[in-house]
Amino acid sequence: MSEVKFFYGENIPLEMHKVRIVQKLNLLPVEHRQKAITEAGNNTFLLKNRDVFMDMLTDSGVNAMSDKQMGAMMVADDSYAGSETFTRLEQKIVEIFNKKFFLPAHQGRACENIISQVFIKPGQIVPMNYHFTTTKAHIMLNGGSVLEIPLDEALNVNSSFPFKGNMDVEKLKMAVEKHGPGNIAFVRLEAGANLIGGQPFSLENMQEVRQVCEAFGIMIVLDASLLADNLYFIKTREEQCRDMSIREITRALSELSDIIYFSARKLGNARGGGICTNDETLYMKMRELVPLYEGFLTYGGMSVREMEAIAVGLDETMDENMINQGPQFIAFMTEELLKKGVPVVTPPGGLGCHLDAMRFVEHIPQNEYPAGALAAALYIASGIRGMERGTMSEQRDEDGNEPFSDMELVRLAVPRRVFTLSQIKYALDRICWLYENRKLIGGLKFVSEPKILRFFFGRLEALSDWQTKLVKKFKEDIGDSL
Ligand code: F0G
Repeated sequence: MSEVKFFYGENIPLEMHKVRIVQKLNLLPVEHRQKAITEAGNNTFLLKNRDVFMDMLTDSGVNAMSDKQMGAMMVADDSYAGSETFTRLEQKIVEIFNKKFFLPAHQGRACENIISQVFIKPGQIVPMNYHFTTTKAHIMLNGGSVLEIPLDEALNVNSSFPFKGNMDVEKLKMAVEKHGPGNIAFVRLEAGANLIGGQPFSLENMQEVRQVCEAFGIMIVLDASLLADNLYFIKTREEQCRDMSIREITRALSELSDIIYFSARKLGNARGGGICTNDETLYMKMRELVPLYEGFLTYGGMSVREMEAIAVGLDETMDENMINQGPQFIAFMTEELLKKGVPVVTPPGGLGCHLDAMRFVEHIPQNEYPAGALAAALYIASGIRGMERGTMSEQRDEDGNEPFSDMELVRLAVPRRVFTLSQIKYALDRICWLYENRKLIGGLKFVSEPKILRFFFGRLEALSDWQTKLVKKFKEDIGDSL
């Protein structure tokens, strides 16, 4: 099937769906927004949704479902064991990934828990293109460590390289030689590498990684949570794949993986997760943990309705017109911001548009959390909730030292099929205002800092009265709310 692009005019994305259910939004006056972010400890995770205008925190579990998904939820077969719904989902996994064995789990990190517990021995390392927060935490909890070996280009915020999510195959070979294959639990490839801006890897790169892994008997685990975006980019950016269908590309990636896991909060546009493999031995090892942590083997902690929605959602993910919507909106946002000189991650990736806080607020040092401060400032200026993806999202080491993140990003996620183009334009308008007034933004400090995954519950304080000054300027320039 040839590539279908839905852009018109000057690269304006066109929604290939209509809206049939709506949810009213609330835009608080700016002073209330300042109060709300203070009460939330300057942590956008702790904001109440009723205080949020556009929720761009994540694309996880908040994608719009289709009429077909909602319809399927009504015919879900509710039973503890042997549910027909599970069989339908299992068959869909076979059809799409060509993997025989499927284990359900309540979400992506639950899959990571199972995989880490089963396959990581203390002292082992897990080479990967880039880590994700929950992935790293589970690997470390099991005594393993993460070895990130992306291409150097991955950390170059401004790039035109199409596959910044690629693994550096030379570094992989060196790591195997240095540590020995026995000390490598598995190699993990993350589709649409989240923390570097939703950046894809290429099919060619995965083929090369596979060659190395096969030579040393190391298994490949594919985190397919953000596979939809990665598939779109392979299809549109990789020469050898132009004439392949999305289904064919999916099969090709699947064939190169020993184990695939995913968060169905992203892949499949519903809520849940799962692990699949063709290797019965691997399956049997992981199977034991599912009833222990998740639920019986035919639901794994998911509601049957969600499982029906995942089966349909996975099918819809194979539709080029569906999966292009997120990346095209993100490309539009990124290009419009570039025109105004606002620093953003390029090339545009999946998941969301990423502001580069290191340059946006270059006057804020990393120990004052520039990305966290920018996320708080953006909320005040717009009612938009983004997510800090920088040093706040890192964890202190055993001696209490704080590692600085490679990048300081504010992620503005674009959940699939949720926002209209005028809402996206509102976001652009507010980001540009904030950029013009960036010097008013100051740093933050932790006042309450949890040990593990501190960004979820940590509370911070502004280091000066900069937020009050920002509100004052906003009222002068714009008014009370809009
Ligand atoms: N892997 C990747 C690449 C992810 O992006 C996520 C979640 C997970 C695993 C864990 O899945 O949430 O279902 O347990 N990412 C969300 C986000 C939380 O907002 O980026 P989960």
